[in-house]
Amino acid sequence: MKSLIINKNLLIGHSAIDAEHQQIADLIGECANTLVVDKACYCLEKYQAIYQYVIQHYDNEEKIMAELGYPNLANHQKQHNNDTQNFNKLVSDYAAHKICSNKCVHTIKMIKDIFIDDMITADMDFKSYLQEIRYKD
Ligand SMILES: [Fe+2]
Ligand SMILES: [Fe+2]
Repeated sequence: MKSLIINKNLLIGHSAIDAEHQQIADLIGECANTLVVDKACYCLEKYQAIYQYVIQHYDNEEKIMAELGYPNLANHQKQHNNDTQNFNKLVSDYAAHKICSNKCVHTIKMIKDIFIDDMITADMDFKSYLQEIRYKD
């Protein structure tokens, strides 16, 4: 799996959000790398750790959006809730099997897709808003 690099285009322009996106990308990258080398399966613990971090990120991001008067907050929250449900289902499905196999690789790919969906698709609209209001950290 290709590692996720937060390049200039993916930066939102809010240092706290950008730092969290980087942290999530790093967690996903680390998890994907250890899948290849781990003999024992620690995937579930890793998925749960990423899940907790992502949930916290959504919460922090929504607070920042509210503070800055982001007009699309309600839609963004819907998207976060949707992502959270998909993520939760993915981790629960995985937990039901808990065998280190191709399913691990598949699961981390899906987690990456969910995260990319938030960061690249949804958060980019907030980036435009920050530019519109000339936000500076
Ligand atoms: Fe978001
Ligand atoms: Fe985000």
